[in-house]
Amino acid sequence: MQSFMDSSDKPMFMSASWTSLNRPRWAPLIFLFSVIAILSLQLTSKSPAPPPGASRRIYPAINTPPLADGGKRSCAGFFRGPADRKVVMSIAEFGGVGDGRTSNTEAFRKAVRFMDGLSAGRGSQLNVPKGRWLTGSFNLTSNFTLFLEEGAVILGSQDPEDWPIVQPLPSYGRGRERLGGRHISLIHGDGLMNVVITGNNGTIDGQGRMWWELWWNRTLEHTRGHLVEIMNSQNVLISNLTFRDSPFWTVHPVYCSNVVIKDMTILAPLTAPNTDGIDPDSSTNVCIEDCYIESGDDLVAVKSGWDHYGMSMARPSSNITIRRVSGTTPTCSGVGIGSEMSGGIADVTIEDLHIWDSAAGVRIKTDVGRGGYISNISIKNILMERVKVPIRFSRGSNDHPDEGWDPKALPAVKGIFIRDIYSVNSTRAPMLDGMVGAVFEGICMRNVTMLGLHPNLRWHCEFVSGFADRVTPVPCLEMQNTSSLCL
Ligand SMILES: *[C@@H]1O[C@H](CO)[C@@H](O)[C@H](O)[C@H]1NC(C)=O
Ligand SMILES: *[C@@H]1O[C@H](CO)[C@@H](O)[C@H](O)[C@H]1NC(C)=O
Ligand SMILES: *[C@@H]1O[C@H](CO)[C@@H](O)[C@H](O)[C@H]1NC(C)=O
Ligand SMILES: *[C@@H]1O[C@H](CO)[C@@H](O)[C@H](O)[C@H]1NC(C)=O
Ligand SMILES: *[C@@H]1O[C@H](CO)[C@@H](O)[C@H](O)[C@H]1NC(C)=O
Ligand SMILES: *[C@@H]1O[C@H](CO)[C@@H](O)[C@H](O)[C@H]1NC(C)=O
Ligand SMILES: *[C@@H]1O[C@H](CO)[C@@H](O)[C@H](O)[C@H]1NC(C)=O
Ligand SMILES: *[C@@H]1O[C@H](CO)[C@@H](O)[C@H](O)[C@H]1NC(C)=O
Ligand SMILES: *[C@@H]1O[C@H](CO)[C@@H](O)[C@H](O)[C@H]1NC(C)=O
Ligand SMILES: *[C@@H]1O[C@H](CO)[C@@H](O)[C@H](O)[C@H]1NC(C)=O
Repeated sequence: MQSFMDSSDKPMFMSASWTSLNRPRWAPLIFLFSVIAILSLQLTSKSPAPPPGASRRIYPAINTPPLADGGKRSCAGFFRGPADRKVVMSIAEFGGVGDGRTSNTEAFRKAVRFMDGLSAGRGSQLNVPKGRWLTGSFNLTSNFTLFLEEGAVILGSQDPEDWPIVQPLPSYGRGRERLGGRHISLIHGDGLMNVVITGNNGTIDGQGRMWWELWWNRTLEHTRGHLVEIMNSQNVLISNLTFRDSPFWTVHPVYCSNVVIKDMTILAPLTAPNTDGIDPDSSTNVCIEDCYIESGDDLVAVKSGWDHYGMSMARPSSNITIRRVSGTTPTCSGVGIGSEMSGGIADVTIEDLHIWDSAAGVRIKTDVGRGGYISNISIKNILMERVKVPIRFSRGSNDHPDEGWDPKALPAVKGIFIRDIYSVNSTRAPMLDGMVGAVFEGICMRNVTMLGLHPNLRWHCEFVSGFADRVTPVPCLEMQNTSSLCL
């Protein structure tokens, strides 16, 4: 895994050009750098087992120096999974065998059927001990904790029939990649409350390569499954685990509220197709914090349905916080908004990110036919290194669910507040493409520094309007609207 520390073996912050150009920014950056370094250290180093009696809290991130506002901000506190379950059992008690070869699909399904009967009150916990537990898809239940002990690995089955076909999501009208139904996720939940997936950094490994090959060689019949999908649920916590090699988007909360995803490591090869890290979709009150993600697609992508299907369902994504996420994705974005956004996306806070060697830092993607809106998006304190286009607004690639899309359905994009961005060694100035007939308004930028760009490079701006203050290099004329919402 490429960590920040590995990527910094060249002391990039020591380069002569960097210091001479930016001496006044040293102090705040060193601080930011050390916070991030500490964060990525614990995300990347194998923690030794604690000595007996030692505090079990290994994540020193919790104790990192306070940020400027006096404490480490967290959005996770509003929902903590009920800590003590009444019944705690091991998958082995349901006939599970962790040898990496025996199928445990029936053991997991049996365990969940049993625990479903215990969901009143404090509910139950299913422990997965050290070992390699091969399984097909199974569902979760309410008031339930799936707990992966240290060294526990859940392996996704290589038989597509172990990932049965389910209905498409109503806000997409069809599978995202293929018409009709879609493969269910490896771990699935629908209509639940109080669900926790956690543990001592155990691993859920989708063994996605077989699925990527089906995609590459064009023999995929139905849309690939997610590693974890939770639908129509409230109070969901996913924490302290490693997810790897998902067939498709890794974590997909859809039609949910009160979701916390924190202290996660999410990995997929940088070439694996559509292996987004976390995709909150038509969900509200979502908190994503302290995650390290590297994958072949967006690290985090906020969505809300596709064209006329998303518009008629009209389930927005709102009140989403994405904070202290670091990682890399060479062909995609650190954080993406869209491109499926037809149910609307509002009130998103994206802050304290560290993105490197990626195609874009923050990208807003939408299209003609999408309808919906994107509003009140706050993006601040982002450090980027070798990110090609630090800030990008763009059109999709004419990607519609079917012929029923409405060319008159234009998205309304308004109120994008971007500040305290620091980008080193980008290759393009911002590219901001709004749409004919749907100017993106109130694009506000303050204290944005992009270094290392060729002096001849200009911003590319079309159908956008906003204001920029203390932004280098000099922004386009469209970003100098003194009657904009920014002032
Ligand atoms: C930026 O590019 C310069 C020149 O290629 C290089 O010396 C420096 O290490 C790079 N810095 C980062 C953070 O990539
Ligand atoms: C969890 O495991 C992953 C993968 O082995 C590792 O990269 C990461 O550093 C571990 N996280 C912690 C907190 O130990
Ligand atoms: C889950 O537990 C809560 C109380 O903690 C209870 O109100 C609720 O009915 C339980 N849910 C189910 C599906 O049993
Ligand atoms: C899991 O839930 C889905 C729908 O939510 C359902 O179609 C499927 O049959 C369930 N699988 C099992 C094994 O119960
Ligand atoms: C997270 O996992 C680590 C590594 O196994 C463990 O020591 C720690 O107690 C876990 N943290 C929480 C909050 O569960
Ligand atoms: C496509 O990939 C799958 C999965 O690896 C493989 O089973 C299948 O034989 C491949 N088909 C072709 C036509 O290459
Ligand atoms: C927004 O979500 C956060 C968690 O990220 C939660 O603490 C807060 O109460 C939510 N706000 C509203 C208005 O629901
Ligand atoms: C904008 O979103 C933030 C949360 O990201 C929220 O606190 C604020 O109230 C929203 N502003 C408006 C005008 O809705
Ligand atoms: C400008 O942004 C940088 C981060 O890129 C931050 O360290 C600095 O404090 C900001 N300056 C002001 C005046 O807010
Ligand atoms: C300037 O911004 C205001 C408010 O967002 C908008 O109504 C107006 O059309 C913009 N003017 C230009 C020239 O883009």
